Amino acid sequence: MRLEFGQANFPWLERTSLDFANAFTTGTAKLDGLDQREKTMSNANGQSAKAARLTIADLAKFKKSGQKWAMLTCYEQLTANIFDQAQIPVLLVGDSAGNNFLGEENTIPVTVDELIPLARAVVRGSERALVVVDLPFGSYETGVSAALETGIRFLKEAKVQAVKLEGGAKVVPQIQALIAAGIPVMGHLGLTPQSVNALGGFKVQGRGEAGDRIKIDALALQAAGVFAIVLELVPAELAAEIAHELITPIIGIGAGNQCDAQVLVWTDLMGMTAEPPKLAKAYRNLRSEMVAAATEWAADVASGEFPSEGQSFH
Ligand code: KIV
Repeated sequence: MRLEFGQANFPWLERTSLDFANAFTTGTAKLDGLDQREKTMSNANGQSAKAARLTIADLAKFKKSGQKWAMLTCYEQLTANIFDQAQIPVLLVGDSAGNNFLGEENTIPVTVDELIPLARAVVRGSERALVVVDLPFGSYETGVSAALETGIRFLKEAKVQAVKLEGGAKVVPQIQALIAAGIPVMGHLGLTPQSVNALGGFKVQGRGEAGDRIKIDALALQAAGVFAIVLELVPAELAAEIAHELITPIIGIGAGNQCDAQVLVWTDLMGMTAEPPKLAKAYRNLRSEMVAAATEWAADVASGEFPSEGQSFH
């Protein structure tokens, strides 16, 4: 028998960070109205500074109003700047930097020290996006103090606004501690790449009764106070049910089109990945564009066509 949402409840944790986000939200938020945002705050000298980045409260409002939104991974400042110009509301400095930026086989070897400079660059390159960073494998599983130490480093050294970690009920103590310390947390369920060895590969998760575990974990994460949950590589029907039942925004990747938001690895979106996963759609083919440009330029160098007068100085 499949678990119905009403059967699982978490009376010990009735208020979530979304409740708080809702309580503090003022005015209306529209995705296409990002540049109308005029929140101000004062520094110690009484000078006002614009706080223009999206917040978790905005994401809560999108869920309430049914406004779907997009999140992209991002690993350095130039693409951060480009995606900010494209008004992508949330940039994720994912540990997918391991396989998409650092040349690793998967996300498991990625360290905090490797992600901090990437996250700092994404924050520096963007003005409007909410920047979220992954807590890498090994930096939070051992307990609350490890999670706090990592989360605090990311906020202080990279100046990100939020962190993401993988796992369900078993990481609830870490999530609660991070939120209590003032660090917004995004959850990640379904195919959790840091556990790829335990899961036996990059396979669809939550088919049939296994979906109940994911529902229970989603409810546990909501009760713990996460501001959003990534659902990766799960049946579209399961993702739709979770997105419908939870007040927490659900961000899908390989999880059908009924989620509140979608995330893609940016190199997949741009057609740069040599072997993109089935869940991704390439909207451009930058790989062939870049191969063509580099080949053309190298040929011009070889023939003496480059540099021409236009690139020369006298
Ligand atoms: O690291 C990453 O890129 C991610 C996304 C796939 C959600 O976790």
